[in-house]
Amino acid sequence: MTFDIRPARAEEMDQFGLMGAYSYAGAFGDGADNVVRHSHQPEWTLCAFDGPTMATSYAAFPFTIRANGGTLAYAGITAVGTRPEYRRRGLLRQIMTQAFAEQRERGQSVAGLWASQAAIYQRYGFAALGARRQYSVDTVDIQFHDGMTGTLTPERHTATDALDPVKTIYRDFIAGRFGYLHRAQVMWRDTVMAATDESGPVWCALVHNEHEPRGYVIYTLRANKVKHAARGQEIVIRDLAWLDAEAYRSLWSYLSQHDLVGRIVWENAPVDDPLVDLLAEPRMLHHRDAEGTWFRVVDLPQAVRERGYDGSGSVVVEIEPDTLTPWNNGNWLIDAAAGSASAEHSRGEADCRMNSRTFSALFSGTRSARDLQHWGLIAGPGEAMRTLDDIFHTNFAPHCPDHY
Ligand SMILES: CC(C)(COP(=O)(O)OP(=O)(O)OC[C@H]1O[C@@H](n2cnc3c(N)ncnc32)[C@H](O)[C@@H]1OP(=O)(O)O)[C@@H](O)C(=O)NCCC(=O)NCCS
Repeated sequence: MTFDIRPARAEEMDQFGLMGAYSYAGAFGDGADNVVRHSHQPEWTLCAFDGPTMATSYAAFPFTIRANGGTLAYAGITAVGTRPEYRRRGLLRQIMTQAFAEQRERGQSVAGLWASQAAIYQRYGFAALGARRQYSVDTVDIQFHDGMTGTLTPERHTATDALDPVKTIYRDFIAGRFGYLHRAQVMWRDTVMAATDESGPVWCALVHNEHEPRGYVIYTLRANKVKHAARGQEIVIRDLAWLDAEAYRSLWSYLSQHDLVGRIVWENAPVDDPLVDLLAEPRMLHHRDAEGTWFRVVDLPQAVRERGYDGSGSVVVEIEPDTLTPWNNGNWLIDAAAGSASAEHSRGEADCRMNSRTFSALFSGTRSARDLQHWGLIAGPGEAMRTLDDIFHTNFAPHCPDHY
């Protein structure tokens, strides 16, 4: 049986919605008229058809992500599903093979996704991008070990009223980080700031110093959520960004003053969030690191060119044969200096050798070359690992707080 692998047409987008409804068992709505259907343009999709029947759905948002001071054009893969009767026939592999080639043609040098099962995507060369730290803490346990509380007094707004200063802070907060999305207006409106019947209104506490806004926390506040005789309310943090330590501390001091709140939950903090190191009893955060997004370099020389760097060095990396991105195979001379880098095909002997997945973990700053070498995932001497780490380390833990 041969399948047609092509984007869905406008008149086939209802079928695309129904694929999402079934694959995700209603998580994004049942029926054709659901979130999956409305989040995508037909040209972002790449689906497998058996005649008129959509057998596999796939789409990728054209996002831009921060990359340690640079930016990368990123294919945000989503809405992947094969009808059960068509599974295990290689349809997703065919789509991924074609999709990587098309991403490269479009100038998308990297791709990523939230996986329903990690096992699906590791075979396509995706590696973890950082991780997601989860907190669940009672307000009475938010006490700093040095006894200091924040000195800035937040102002509370409805989140949408605070959109302009929030966007300015977010832009500065993510500028030097890796993995954060450039959020379009629709992302602010439909995700971070979207009120639902369940969540109630979405609030924003903004802190300013004498000159400008320096941090915000966007959150919801609901009663009867916590089994506690006196403090049954819950705060759920949607987003938090800060430009200096005083702003950060002031936001948590503000949250801690919600005396009727028995639980503050934050599901998507970065792993370098400072709270664990500031609290007198960090165990009461009940923090846990969970899987975040998955990430892959699609076009190696372009991705290397677009990312930002702080270190310098020169190293020849051999990428092992990969049928999904064959243009990346072979030896690359990677040269980094003064904030930028290049990768050129090299006839020189390689200093080290790794596969596409390992290169992706290194490139995003998620793993160090030294660790990857210890784990048997990079072959090469210690000197090459030091150079790789000088080049690819990131100033902040890579992270993507946005679900898509
Ligand atoms: C995941 C899914 C899209 C795979 O679709 P498919 O068309 O059957 O995929 P393929 O036949 O191309 O198989 C892809 C590979 O994954 C493997 N695979 C498929 N399903 C798997 C599973 N549940 N667990 C582990 N491996 C699996 C196959 O063996 C194959 O490996 P190979 O290419 O190395 O030989 C399909 O199982 C599905 O729709 N699942 C439910 C929805 C879902 O999880 N979507 C992903 C959202 S992030």
